Amino acid sequence: MSGARFGIWALVHGSRGALHDPDEPFDASWARNKNLVLEAEALGFDSTLIAQHTANPYDDEWDELEAWTAAAALAALTSRIEIIAAIKPPLVHPVILAKMAQQIEHISGGRFGLNLVNAWNRAEYEKSGIPFAEHDERYAYGHEWIGIVEKLLRGERVTAKGRYFDVREFQLRPADPFRARPMIYVGGESAPAQDLVAAHGDVWFINGQPLEYVEGLIASARGRPREGAALRFGLSAFVIARETAAQAQAAFDHLLALSEKDYEIRARQKQNTDPAVVMKHTHIYNRPPIIGTNGGTYAGLVGSYEEVAERIAAFTQAGIELFMLQFQPFEAEMRRFAKELLPRIRNQERFSQQDIGLVIG
Ligand SMILES: Cc1cc2nc3c(=O)[nH]c(=O)nc-3n(C[C@H](O)[C@H](O)[C@H](O)COP(=O)(O)O)c2cc1C
Repeated sequence: MSGARFGIWALVHGSRGALHDPDEPFDASWARNKNLVLEAEALGFDSTLIAQHTANPYDDEWDELEAWTAAAALAALTSRIEIIAAIKPPLVHPVILAKMAQQIEHISGGRFGLNLVNAWNRAEYEKSGIPFAEHDERYAYGHEWIGIVEKLLRGERVTAKGRYFDVREFQLRPADPFRARPMIYVGGESAPAQDLVAAHGDVWFINGQPLEYVEGLIASARGRPREGAALRFGLSAFVIARETAAQAQAAFDHLLALSEKDYEIRARQKQNTDPAVVMKHTHIYNRPPIIGTNGGTYAGLVGSYEEVAERIAAFTQAGIELFMLQFQPFEAEMRRFAKELLPRIRNQERFSQQDIGLVIG
């Protein structure tokens, strides 16, 4: 059994938790993100996820990092860390996107992945004049789109005529010399998201939430028709780890109090959110207050170093292989995670492997 992987969310639109934090002034610049990812790699993180938003989803007066050009540059600057860039299918034709993905795969030497997401932010589409279809229709489009991208990434000559695309005898060269194709991740929780990842994805990204729900989602996705290698799972989570549980709770309370200043921004964001997205209907919207996006602290990674390491181990046991993490202030807390948590987790993993060795050996 290989160990869990740990990644960081790039700060494409600034902080992921409280948006008005004197300890983390707003900064979504390329310079910050470049330094962040280079440091993450040096600290031993395995992956980074670059979300795609064309305009800042909180306030379009604020800066926003462009995911794909940044991914290409990061691919050239790094040497080990996986680079994942998100994509919303209607924003780029599948042939062009597959070509871009293949190029970044080459630049990175086989470390690239795309994260297919089917959108919630109505304003991003409508203000740019791109039709914002209803929820399941967006997934139908995404399904046809990724079917084409996936084959092109494999180096196949593709002819595909469907509801949305008419691709004829198209082939991309050079093909992937490192593996069959770059990784395909899918973010989203609805039934169509699960169908999509089972049919065309490698790893399903789940929003941060308690273990019992994550276990249910994993079982549900595993129950879908699928060919080839088993589906893998990633979890988004915001980490607040401290020496003691009380210190972690105090840090959480501090961020929560700060986030009260974000009330207006959150209200606007809510208005822009498609009411059909699954996140709006499940327990996630009846949850206790949280910090972070995509579930954030709802995953429960708030506590003492021991508690957080144990909860990560429990998620790993349930099938999570990649933890995509958020922190605040990001750089300082990322360093703390690398110093305090990564060695503990690796030790735990070694210990449990020895256990297995004893049982079967
Ligand atoms: C790990 C993860 C990453 C995501 N990244 C993005 C992103 O970069 N851009 C975006 O617009 N939406 C992103 N989303 C949201 C998805 O677009 C999706 O619309 C949302 O989860 C609702 O879909 P659902 O109804 O299938 O849950 C992400 C979701 C997850 C779980």
